Amino acid sequence: MGEILDNQPAIEMRNITKRFVDVLASDHVNLSLYPKEVVALLGENGAGKTTLMNILFGYYQYDEGDIFVHGKKVSFSTPKDAIAAGIAMIHQHFTLVPTQTVLENVIIGVEGGFFLNLGRAKKKLLEIEKRFGLNLDPDAIVSSLSIGKKQKLEILKALYRDAEILIMDEPTAVLSPTETQELFGTLRTLVDRGKSIIFISHKLNEVMEISDRVVVLRAGANVAERETSGTTIPELATLMVGRELLERLDHGKVAAGATVLDIKGLTVKDEAGLDAVDGLDLEVRGGEIIGLAGVSGNGQTELSEALFGLLRPESGEIVILGAKVPAGKPAEAIRAGMARIPEDRISTGLFMDLSVKDNMILKNHTEAPISRRGLINMKAIRAFAADGIARFQIKTDGMEAPSKSLSGGNLQKIILARELAGDPKVIIACQCTRGLDVGAMEYVHQTLLREKEKGAAVLLISDDLDEIFLLSDRIAVIYEGRIMGMTDIAEANRERIGLWMSGVAS
Ligand SMILES: Nc1ncnc2c1ncn2[C@@H]1O[C@H](COP(=O)(O)OP(=O)(O)OP(=O)(O)O)[C@@H](O)[C@H]1O
Ligand SMILES: [Mg+2]
Repeated sequence: MGEILDNQPAIEMRNITKRFVDVLASDHVNLSLYPKEVVALLGENGAGKTTLMNILFGYYQYDEGDIFVHGKKVSFSTPKDAIAAGIAMIHQHFTLVPTQTVLENVIIGVEGGFFLNLGRAKKKLLEIEKRFGLNLDPDAIVSSLSIGKKQKLEILKALYRDAEILIMDEPTAVLSPTETQELFGTLRTLVDRGKSIIFISHKLNEVMEISDRVVVLRAGANVAERETSGTTIPELATLMVGRELLERLDHGKVAAGATVLDIKGLTVKDEAGLDAVDGLDLEVRGGEIIGLAGVSGNGQTELSEALFGLLRPESGEIVILGAKVPAGKPAEAIRAGMARIPEDRISTGLFMDLSVKDNMILKNHTEAPISRRGLINMKAIRAFAADGIARFQIKTDGMEAPSKSLSGGNLQKIILARELAGDPKVIIACQCTRGLDVGAMEYVHQTLLREKEKGAAVLLISDDLDEIFLLSDRIAVIYEGRIMGMTDIAEANRERIGLWMSGVAS
């Protein structure tokens, strides 16, 4: 993208080593970033990407190595020091205050804080918005903003603090394809105006599109570095995972059986009291995967939460194998044989302070062999946890490690190991490969196909059309809370599905 103007890197990390008790998270890593450059940082779940960026951002101290900013050695004790040196990090989980306005969020923590001249601050913010083409109403309340807009606000916060270097940790994981393209437009403008960016993503097509150079980490160490123009997606996948990925998945022929999950006339209200799901009917048969496509915000979240028993529907029924599932009761959904893979793993899937093992048994702690006659069987629990860790290759310091010490992708794997254990009759998978590396994603896809072959009814809710096409037997499109169209995979065409997604019947 941007040509290199300067031979001196904006950032240079040399020989960075960081050890957490038993894990060598950074093993003599080198990373440089030139002015006006976009460097993609790649690696499997747990490879050490976030850790390295937390070090650069002054959030973690490191054991060995040096960091230089424009050739000058620096030593940051806190993120404040990094910000003063022109570095900003945009985390995957935003750090905004929802009840305040855009402008208030921008100036929080800036020198002078609320005593500064609000009028002047607003003027400065609007100037920045204009210069970088980021339009956001300074007076809007943050809680009313879409995810894409919240991310714009995070970028504006960084620019307001004169950040020159932006670290973005999986910024596109939570964005719809359209929002991702908007973000890329913004990133191109930033680079044109002289900024440099470190970009982390597991989506290799995005990496090919936006980066100039790719740095690959494996097990905390550098394994390869490529100019983006001189590499390919298969090569990057192989470098990350250390093996070649399958060319295609084996779908295994099974004839879909009788209806297992029957959603009848389901209406679910959203937080604002509007019908997010609006009289939706959908039948999923045993032995089939229905991919539910749609632009995010068309009722997918509310539908899944109603299915999980987290939200009580206004009307309608959820029926599993002929029996009505009592509404609004998560335990009943589980008892009916439902495996639930939620979209927001931190707020609905996991307790971060609990151990890996405890999170793995959250679902079936009242059942044999984990519990018999009210007695908890520790041996069975340990065996169950060890098995899940091995099968999903969860990178952890052991089953007793606190969940919060795990990398993002490995947290997702805990949920998968927990929910896909046993023989679920119905699997509701929402954005189930979000944040997973390509190898782990392949494993999850294979697992869903295997469960389907065993007869499970799978509802795959995903923003990722490629994933939908890869796994589905039938594709349904949700638009404004209703099924806009449904097609067999054999007859599915992207154009028609695209039309359905934008509410056009065809
Ligand atoms: N605070 C911590 N305490 C203990 N171990 C940690 C801590 N933070 C990270 N680790 C470990 O360091 C390793 C690297 O984790 P990191 O979060 O950097 O991975 P990542 O490359 O960002 O992975 P992902 O793609 O899944 O986000 C992992 O094994 C992780 O469990
Ligand atoms: Mg990470």
